[in-house]
Amino acid sequence: MSEQHAGTEAPRSFLFLNASSRPGGNSEQLARFAAGASLPAGAEQRWLRLSEHPLPLFEDRRHADDGFREPAGHERTLLDATLAATDLVFVAPLYWYSLPTSAKLYLDHWSAWLRVPGADFRARMAGGTVWAVTALATEPDKADPLIGTLRLCADYMGMRWGGALLGNGTRPGDVLKDEPALAAAESFFAG
Ligand SMILES: Cc1cc2nc3c(=O)[nH]c(=O)nc-3n(C[C@H](O)[C@H](O)[C@H](O)COP(=O)(O)O)c2cc1C
Repeated sequence: MSEQHAGTEAPRSFLFLNASSRPGGNSEQLARFAAGASLPAGAEQRWLRLSEHPLPLFEDRRHADDGFREPAGHERTLLDATLAATDLVFVAPLYWYSLPTSAKLYLDHWSAWLRVPGADFRARMAGGTVWAVTALATEPDKADPLIGTLRLCADYMGMRWGGALLGNGTRPGDVLKDEPALAAAESFFAG
């Protein structure tokens, strides 16, 4: 997450973290529509499905004598991808008014990554932008807990809040019939 914050002209780099537990779901379809319509010119994009990069259960080792463990495997992949991005997009359906488990687990691992020697995690994240693209089956205000979580996490890390793009749907593809969501997607990442 460093290029944009250094004030250089480096292109923005969007990391789409897909936390849906099914392929081709509504959140992903809406996010791909928004990316196609509104990513800034020259922006790079990388898409990762969290289910294809399963993280171990989080262990709070902050105060353990042998506290530090070098991130490896999928954890390393996600840490490196996170640090390489200027913009972090949570493609996250609403599950029980909140984030899907995989997205919450990923966030829990930030607590370990803050302490990885040499990663400089907090400083490199600061100045980046967090976004949410979320499908849900009910009213938009039911996503407030999910949005609040991501906003507060961004704030804690000194990151900007880009905004939340919400779309309605139950079966995959439903969201592409949500005209207000598609209209918002047209300019979402340009905002
Ligand atoms: C475990 C689970 C919990 C859900 N909880 C909610 C919820 O709290 N509120 C809601 O409006 N929809 C809820 N839904 C519906 C999903 O948000 C909806 O089907 C959405 O399209 C799924 O996103 P996806 O297609 O990107 O996977 C839930 C679905 C699942 C599978």
